[in-house]
Amino acid sequence: MSLLNNKKRILITGASGLLGYFWINKMFKEFEIILVAHQRQLNYKNLKSIQIDLFSFDEIVKQIKKLNIHIVINLAGISNVEKCENYPDLAFAVNQKLASIVAKACSTTNTKLIHISTDHLFGNENKLFTENDIPILVNNYAKSKYLGECEVLRENPKALVCRTNFFGKGPKHRVSISDWIINDLTNNEIINLFDDVCFSPIIGSKVPEYAHKLLDLGASGIYNISADDVISKYKFGEYIANAFNLSQRLINKSSIKERKDLTKRPLCMGLSNKKASLILNQSFGKVIDHVALLYEHTKSRI
Ligand SMILES: NC(=O)c1ccc[n+]([C@@H]2O[C@H](COP(=O)([O-])OP(=O)(O)OC[C@H]3O[C@@H](n4cnc5c(N)ncnc54)[C@H](OP(=O)(O)O)[C@@H]3O)[C@@H](O)[C@H]2O)c1
Repeated sequence: MSLLNNKKRILITGASGLLGYFWINKMFKEFEIILVAHQRQLNYKNLKSIQIDLFSFDEIVKQIKKLNIHIVINLAGISNVEKCENYPDLAFAVNQKLASIVAKACSTTNTKLIHISTDHLFGNENKLFTENDIPILVNNYAKSKYLGECEVLRENPKALVCRTNFFGKGPKHRVSISDWIINDLTNNEIINLFDDVCFSPIIGSKVPEYAHKLLDLGASGIYNISADDVISKYKFGEYIANAFNLSQRLINKSSIKERKDLTKRPLCMGLSNKKASLILNQSFGKVIDHVALLYEHTKSRI
């Protein structure tokens, strides 16, 4: 396949997921995007989608060469914590094995790779965790994603691995945490948000923006892409309610300790973005700034 224009060609796995949606919408003007479909059909006008068995090293290598791919973005994953706990074989197959095969195929073909990891790798201390902090892996999602990172970098030391957590207006079939809060508050429904679980989420469109900038600067290894601060899920709900002029009174402060039915989760998932923001020479902004961006994006679409 020859280049029809001067745009670089990127291959996105996990394209039907939430981050796939943000990546495509942010980057479709800059790159020629080819999507890898899995179970869900992809219906993007003007974008080519193909089926590749991502467990087949030979098939990935063949397609990368045939399509003349410059960058692979690996977003394929089992992101549901409960599913990972209930189906460990599936979690480790996709989050670890598949990631490792994709990384090896990129290394063999000398193709750049951005692999997306998670903020779910730490424990209970209320802080912003750096790339050098030692992980505390409390469930199968955390274990499989961490082993995925390790294998990606073992197979392909030039790969860029981004740990992140994101929100934004997702597609109809895959709502984000902010969609869920906005929808329920708009419908006057009471919601419970944990006051003892902290994170540093960023608006989804910034993940591809920062990741590609890091790649352009030749970054490899692990980089956190997150907001500047760490806040509770309850506070996040308050920020959303304020920005969208919805009732804060519908938000109940709750504790994860009361949810014995849930798989064990880390209490603090804050990520320090210092390493990435230093190399990019820009600050990423606080969670409240990203919520304001979400409001602006939503308003401009009405
Ligand atoms: N969502 C979050 O809040 C969050 C936070 C931190 C990190 N992350 C990480 O970010 C990445 C993307 O997350 P997301 O929320 O966009 O995930 P998602 O919405 O759950 O989507 C997962 C994607 O992976 C694909 N997939 C699953 N199994 C596959 C397989 N065997 N072969 C090929 N593709 C497969 C799915 O395709 P089908 O739908 O067709 O099955 C889907 O496109 C994941 O690695 C996740 O761990 C997510």
